[in-house]
Order: sequence, then C-alpha cells, then structure tokens
Amino acid sequence: MPDFFTVVKGRRAVRKFKKKEIPLKTLEKIIEAGTWAPSAVNTQPWEFVLVRDAEKKKKFGAIYEESMKAFYRQDTEFIENATLLLVLADKEKALHLLSTSAAIENILLAATAMGLGSVWMCRPLMVEKNLNELRELFGIPQKYEIVGVIALGYPDEKPKPKERRSLKEILHYEKF
Ligand SMILES: Cc1cc2nc3c(=O)[nH]c(=O)nc-3n(C[C@H](O)[C@H](O)[C@H](O)COP(=O)(O)O)c2cc1C
Repeated sequence: MPDFFTVVKGRRAVRKFKKKEIPLKTLEKIIEAGTWAPSAVNTQPWEFVLVRDAEKKKKFGAIYEESMKAFYRQDTEFIENATLLLVLADKEKALHLLSTSAAIENILLAATAMGLGSVWMCRPLMVEKNLNELRELFGIPQKYEIVGVIALGYPDEKPKPKERRSLKEILHYEKF
C-alpha cells in the first residue's frame, strides 16, 4: 500500500478503464472508507447506490453524454468499463453536502490506494432534465440529493497531474 501523501498526490481524475470487473469485496472496502469520513454532528447523511449492470451503465452514459454536450466535448465511452457509485445525501440532515463530500474524497483516495482509477462526475446534476432522468433511472427519492456519481475502474491511462495553486498564493497567516 503506498504511503498517504503518495496516494493524495497520485490521485487523478481517470477517464479510461480496462475491461476488468472490480471484485465486490474491493468495492465494499472502498465504500466503507467513505463511511469513516467526519460528518456534522455525526449525522452520516450518506447513502450509496452501486451500479454494475451493463444496461443501466449504458443508460447513464447516454444521460451523461447529453449533459456534457453544452459544456465541453468528452469521450464518454469510459463508462462502459467502469463501475458506477452514486453518492447521495439526506437533505434533512444538517450540512449534508459537506459531510457527504468528505465521504467522496475518502472513497477516491481509498480507490487510489488500492490501485484503482476514479472520477467524480457532477455534470449531469447541473442540468435539470438530466438530473430528473438520473433520479428516475436509479429510483432516487426526492429526500436525497445526488452529490456525485463516481466512476471506478482499473486505470487504462495515466493522466498528468494538473498544476496546483501554490501555498504562497493561497495560504494567509493570521489574517487574509
Ligand atoms: C465537484 C466535482 C465535480 C466534477 N465533475 C466532473 C464531471 O462531471 N466530469 C468529469 O469528467 N470530471 C469531473 N470532475 C473531475 C475534475 O475535472 C478533476 O478533478 C479536475 O480537473 C482536477 O484533476 P485531478 O482530479 O486529476 O487532479 C469533477 C470534480 C469535482 C470535485
């Protein structure tokens, strides 16, 4: 297992996966890492929907592709080889989005540590029609907000790290 900072710096948004199924045990271990995230007043507002069915992934791919059209061109074929994980947050729990986002980051890092690639996708959540289609496709009640759809798989690309803003620019001591 790589050390923590190697995992943090080595995690990339991966959008090309090998045609190889991730064992369920591995997926459960990664999702469990998500549940060890902090949450406001320990509300643990998250729920997860794991999608491995080819037909459902195809339908998600079509929704995702449509949502991307107005944004920028992206090859969405990678969905076919991915396992999808929908991460939901209970809207009735305080600060549900913040806590669930922390769980997502844990999941992305756990996947990286286990040699998997991942990408957190939100684009279809930003287009009302596509968001409604996702709710319908996966039977998600209105009580839950979809915080992200994570694609997971064995990486078939090694994206270059994107430059980070330097600490010099963003870190302020004692006052802004
Ligand atoms: C909230 C959020 C939403 C994102 N939505 C998408 C998305 O819809 N599609 C996509 O391909 N990548 C998406 N990404 C991935 C980012 O594009 C990526 O993390 C960013 O370019 C930095 O690259 P890195 O993750 O390799 O460091 C999203 C990331 C975050 C945190």
